[in-house]
Parts: sequence; C-alpha cells; structure tokens
Amino acid sequence: MPKIIQAVPVEDELHEILAAAGEVTVVPFGAERAEFLAAAAGAHGILLNPLIRVDEELLAAAPELKVVATTSVGYDAFDVDFLTAHGVALCNTPGVLNDAVADLTTAFMLMLSRGLMGFEAYNRSGAWGRRERQPALAHDPQGKTFGVIGFGRIGREVARRMNAFGMNVIWYDVFEDAPADAPPAERREMDDLLRESDFVSVHTDLNNSSRHVVGERELALMKPSAYLINTSRGPTVDQRALQRALEENRIAGAGLDVLEQEPPQADEPIVALPNVISFPHIGTATEETRYAMRKLACQNVAAVVGGEMPPAIVNPSVLG
Ligand code: DGY
Repeated sequence: MPKIIQAVPVEDELHEILAAAGEVTVVPFGAERAEFLAAAAGAHGILLNPLIRVDEELLAAAPELKVVATTSVGYDAFDVDFLTAHGVALCNTPGVLNDAVADLTTAFMLMLSRGLMGFEAYNRSGAWGRRERQPALAHDPQGKTFGVIGFGRIGREVARRMNAFGMNVIWYDVFEDAPADAPPAERREMDDLLRESDFVSVHTDLNNSSRHVVGERELALMKPSAYLINTSRGPTVDQRALQRALEENRIAGAGLDVLEQEPPQADEPIVALPNVISFPHIGTATEETRYAMRKLACQNVAAVVGGEMPPAIVNPSVLG
C-alpha cells in the first residue's frame, strides 16, 4: 500500500481521495520540520504547500518518493530539475484558479481607473457629509489599451474580461501565436506593449527569464498616465525600481497582489504609497477556488501513487 503524507488540511471527502489511493498520515499544518521529516519517512506521495522545502534531506527520508503535489499553480518554490533528476513528479494546480486571479486583476483595473480608493477614503472620513471637495474625476476603461504580459491561461482570461469592458487588448509572450480559442487581442513586442498600454498587467510565471521582466528600463517606456498591475509573482517586477517610478510619478499608479518578499517587512514602503493599491497575495483567496485547488492536488497525488498520469504535472517526463 503506498504511503501518503497529507501536510495540508483538507475536507473529509478530499481526504478520502487520498485514503482510496494509499495509507495516509496527516501531518499538522505548520508542523516543525523534524516532525514532518519523521512522518515522511518511506513516503511515496506528499500533499504539501510551497512553504515545505523538498530537498536532499527529504529525499533521504523518503527514497521511494514518487510525487509531491503543491496546492498552488506557481511552482517557483520547487527545484524542478532536482526533482526530475530524482524521478519525483511535481504536480501543481493550473486551470482551476484562472477566474479568481482574472477577477482580482479586473478589480485592480476598475479601482485604479475609477479612482475608487480615493472616493472610498473620502466617504469613510466623513468628508462628503462635511461637504468637502471631492477627489478629481477618474477615467473610463472603455477605449483604453490593456497590455497583458504573459498570454497563458490566466492572461487570456484577463483579456476576455477586458474585452468586455470595451478595452483594446494587446499581449506579449515569448511565443508568437496565440491558441485558436484565445480572445481577440493583438500581439506586440514587449517594448511596444509598454509604450502603448494604459494598463500593463503581468501574468507570467516566475522563472529565470521572467525575473524582473518589468524593471527600470521597462517602467521608463510606460506612459506617465499608465498603471502597472501585478497578480503573478513579486519578483517578476523590480520592486525598488517600481517604487522609485511611483514616488516620482513617472507612472500613475500600481495594483499589487504580490511583493518581492512575502510577507514583507512591516514598514515596507511601497504598500504605503498613495498611488498604490496592494493586497496580501489573495489572487486565489476564495472558498471555491481554494477548494478546487486542494481537490486537484489530492487527485494529483492519488493518480501518481496509483501509477496513472495525474491531471496536472510540471515534469511529465518522470512518468515516461
Ligand atoms: C498560486 O497558486 O500560485 C497562487 O499564487 C497562490 O499561491
């Protein structure tokens, strides 16, 4: 019977998916590393979160490990080459979170273009009742240009929404041709996208070539009236360069769901800037989406320990 470690709390019916595939040991969320390693001895599959390190030490404890399944789509916290070299499948949760992240991106777009935070703060402070002067008028999204960096599943879902707002959507990615079912949007080279866009929104995964894909040079190409939105991973944007651009009003503002360091220092300056709206990495933070992610992760573990191809895998070559 395969041994499965469940290091993420899941609902009973999701636990059953694991229990049908092997003998499950539940490790409390946030358990000390030593406790986790002791439980993981001899494991074939592990359901974990990206905070748990998968390294030589873990593989020494679990030499027959076949799969680690993370409850996230992003897998930048894992060393894919290392896992592949050891024949361990790395499974993630693509697809089920596209809507949640695209919805949050839409919220940023509306909050920024309509100046909603300023109006909200005005009202909350009682300024309306005191008949104080209202914040300046904002802008319609209709007719503006929305640039998507990274035209994958989430980027395309964002494009679909921006089309519905009557925006002109353009995109950049390393590939030239969008899939046949992609929403209407034109490809641009990166620099042209930065020059043309009223909103630049980052949707690439984090890898060596996307680290600081938006830096000092790229920010300098943006219009002074443009906004940057990042719901991908903090390090895709050079945060200090962005902070300078925002402080000097070289761009109009930013919507940030992610930061280079998470959680940030309590006095992280970028989150306090008046032209920044930021959230604590909540792109997938809905009951429905997080449930779907946990379910997919359980299905991934069960499939691999059962000798089948899982619904989602980062390194399929390990399964032949
Ligand atoms: C993901 O799934 O990668 C989200 O960013 C949550 O971590």
